[in-house]
Amino acid sequence: MPDPGSPDEVRGGLSAQDITVRYGGVVANENVSLEVYPGEIIGLIGPNGAGKTTFVDAVTGFIDYEGTITVDSTPMNGLPPHRRRRTGLSRTWQSGELFPNLSVNQNVIAAMRPGGLATLWRDLIGRRRSGSNEVVDATLRAVGLGDVGDTLARDLTLGQQKLVGVARALVGHCRVLLLDEPLRASTVRRVSSSPSASGRSCGTGPVHC
Ligand SMILES: Nc1ncnc2c1ncn2[C@@H]1O[C@H](COP(=O)(O)OP(=O)(O)O)[C@@H](O)[C@H]1O
Ligand SMILES: [Mg+2]
Repeated sequence: MPDPGSPDEVRGGLSAQDITVRYGGVVANENVSLEVYPGEIIGLIGPNGAGKTTFVDAVTGFIDYEGTITVDSTPMNGLPPHRRRRTGLSRTWQSGELFPNLSVNQNVIAAMRPGGLATLWRDLIGRRRSGSNEVVDATLRAVGLGDVGDTLARDLTLGQQKLVGVARALVGHCRVLLLDEPLRASTVRRVSSSPSASGRSCGTGPVHC
């Protein structure tokens, strides 16, 4: 556990307090509390069905929960997933989230553009002029995929597809990253030690679930 430093620093990062999630009669998370300070990496371990994905879903706003979630002291309760993403709260998905018939570059661009279909289309057609290429390239290099930008997502190995998911979560403003089943510990090490990633304000380490 790193030295949390001054009181201001203590309030930074992710705070989840007393998170409870029920699916009907099933209590998947019961009063789960977790603090992740800037620069810290926390692992959640447990057998299938333990509630790891449920916790990621709750923190990122994809399911209803009881409890309190803040990022850098900003309350997340009541915010939909895309608003949480804008504050820098990012996640990956346990199973495929990619557009299989788009290139790796296009998959990452799609994750960084909140402007709807028109913006996406313009980016896909005009990506060489869009100015976003440098960001995409740097993000892909950060996860070790610098040489597959033009490859279709469906042609990647499962491990590479997972890393594209990480790039999609990292691109743009990222303060807290939650990795759901990233396959390998090396993924977590690579992402957290990447200069590009830390330069992109991923001050809080991944939660590896
Ligand atoms: N959408 C859902 N509807 C009902 N029960 C669910 C749903 N998702 C997960 N569960 C149940 O919640 C518990 C936790 O599941 P999950 O969060 O997926 O665990 P883990 O990610 O640790 O494998 C399990 O008992 C699972 O069956
Ligand atoms: Mg899971």
